[in-house]
Amino acid sequence: MTYDTIILGAGAAGMMCAAHCSGRVLVIDHAKAPGEKIRISGGGRCNFTNIHAGPGNFLSRNPHFCKSALARYTQWDFIDLVGRHNIAWHEKTLGQLFCDGSSKQIIRMLLDEMSGAGAVLWVQTSLRDLRKTESGFALEVERDGQRQHLTCTNLVLATGGKSIPKMGATGLAYDIARQFGLRMTETRAALVPFTFSDGRFRDLSGVSLPVRLSNDRASFDEALLFTHRGLSGPSVLQLSSYWREGEAIRVNLIPDLPLLDLLRAQRQSAGRKALTTELARHLPARLVDYLCRVIPMSGKLADQSDAKLTELTSALSAWQLVPSGTEGYRTAEVTLGGIDTDDLSSKTMEAKDVPGLYAIGEAVDVTGWLGGYNFQWAWSSGHAAGVAI
Ligand code: FDA
Repeated sequence: MTYDTIILGAGAAGMMCAAHCSGRVLVIDHAKAPGEKIRISGGGRCNFTNIHAGPGNFLSRNPHFCKSALARYTQWDFIDLVGRHNIAWHEKTLGQLFCDGSSKQIIRMLLDEMSGAGAVLWVQTSLRDLRKTESGFALEVERDGQRQHLTCTNLVLATGGKSIPKMGATGLAYDIARQFGLRMTETRAALVPFTFSDGRFRDLSGVSLPVRLSNDRASFDEALLFTHRGLSGPSVLQLSSYWREGEAIRVNLIPDLPLLDLLRAQRQSAGRKALTTELARHLPARLVDYLCRVIPMSGKLADQSDAKLTELTSALSAWQLVPSGTEGYRTAEVTLGGIDTDDLSSKTMEAKDVPGLYAIGEAVDVTGWLGGYNFQWAWSSGHAAGVAI
């Protein structure tokens, strides 16, 4: 069978691309159903975009690469599409938009858009062989136990990254990119919890608080969650994308609290109160118990000199920790790095040296922050390739 375009991967980017392609289009996926990551995203409500999305929210070796696609298909275009399909949504926090109902509505919408454009979807279909031909590509796929030979002029790599292999994530896009001579940037798990091999936070598991989490490259003001294995929560997931093995992170436990002034005032009016009792009014009590073991603090408020209080508040605002590692691809929301953008056109996502080969979505070295940015990249890059084809 001959198609104008075959899209490998019926995820966010692949379906969006299929909805905008012209000609005979086939979308192939090895999973049982399309859009599985959309289905589980945002706790089942899909954080489908972010109203603040812009190039500054993306990591890539070439930070300029994402600009063109993001500008030509913006968060407002996707919000408009969602509106046309009568999907109700709300802003949760920090510009993050979620469905009021279910993430399945987004999958249904994309399937409707795809079939409206005449695209055909084959699930439970695996690629067995791929070759370049004079006029395009020849593929051998396995479907229902049968091998089938397909040819196409355009081949779109939309099989995503390596995160959550249990859900069917593979490195297929990277392998094909390499097969055709495209370069890769280093890939690693991102938007992922930190682990501490000594289990030091086990007793704090479940404690959560707003913090400023930073290293020398980035800083995020969001919640931190202690877990059995280490640290999680939005601030941690965000910073993980900017973290390298062996590096320290800084936790400001009192980012918006004038704690020094408050302690001084309490020393004046309630000097007999224990310092830790006063701290537990501002920080979770279990955390204060833990901190007593790592930051010197004891005695009554009246016993604390200005110098001691200053030392304490400085320690609480710059708690240094060195994670042992991350949870890895098992739980990571995304893969950082991927197909090198130097080898792709930022306007069309087509490989510069392989006419007809396109790469979109998470497979490309463009990684968004937590908060709907990764889906926006999938929509924008899928659209860019779709309209070009
Ligand atoms: P995606 O992974 O969506 O699709 C790839 C498709 O290719 C899949 O259908 C897969 O089955 C198929 N495939 C893979 N290997 C194949 C092979 N060898 N042969 C055939 N098919 C193959 N982002 C966001 O913006 N908001 C959010 O709320 C969330 N939430 C979230 C939760 C969780 C738990 C995860 C893991 C991730 C998120 N994300 C997110 C990230 C977001 O899901 C992700 O960035 C996009 O789905 C990427 O879209 P793609 O289409 O590139 O890949």
